[in-house]
Amino acid sequence: MSLLKAATDVRKNAYAPYSNFKVGAAIRAVSGRVYSGCNVENVAYPEGTCAEAGAIAAMIAAGESEIIEALVIADSPMPVSPCGGCRQKLAEFSKGDVKITMTTTAGNTREITMADLLPGAFTQAHMDGE
Ligand code: THU
Repeated sequence: MSLLKAATDVRKNAYAPYSNFKVGAAIRAVSGRVYSGCNVENVAYPEGTCAEAGAIAAMIAAGESEIIEALVIADSPMPVSPCGGCRQKLAEFSKGDVKITMTTTAGNTREITMADLLPGAFTQAHMDGE
């Protein structure tokens, strides 16, 4: 399945009664399988989770941990940009050359590599030497 279709489909299930901003994310793991997720808000606002987090959780639950491509979609005036926390979450499972596609329901699309999405990412290497 294409990432665009998976993310578009799952976005319809987003639970976003507070922001009214539905987001869909899809990731392809190294096996070729596609995992998807949507944002899930909560009346206690900080407890809400992003679409990317849902897709990553589905991948991990299925026993995979290497992302080779990701896409995020929303009904946004410009390609929807993963938040800072989601950039770090994606970086945990993506090499620097992984393509991240940011798009809108109208088709306004921007592609960026993981390395460019989160320059200077905090990594395991920063904890070495203790
Ligand atoms: N959101 C995502 O799910 N992913 C993003 O990349 C950006 C923001 C969600 C979180 C919240 O439910 C809503 O969009 C508004 O911030």
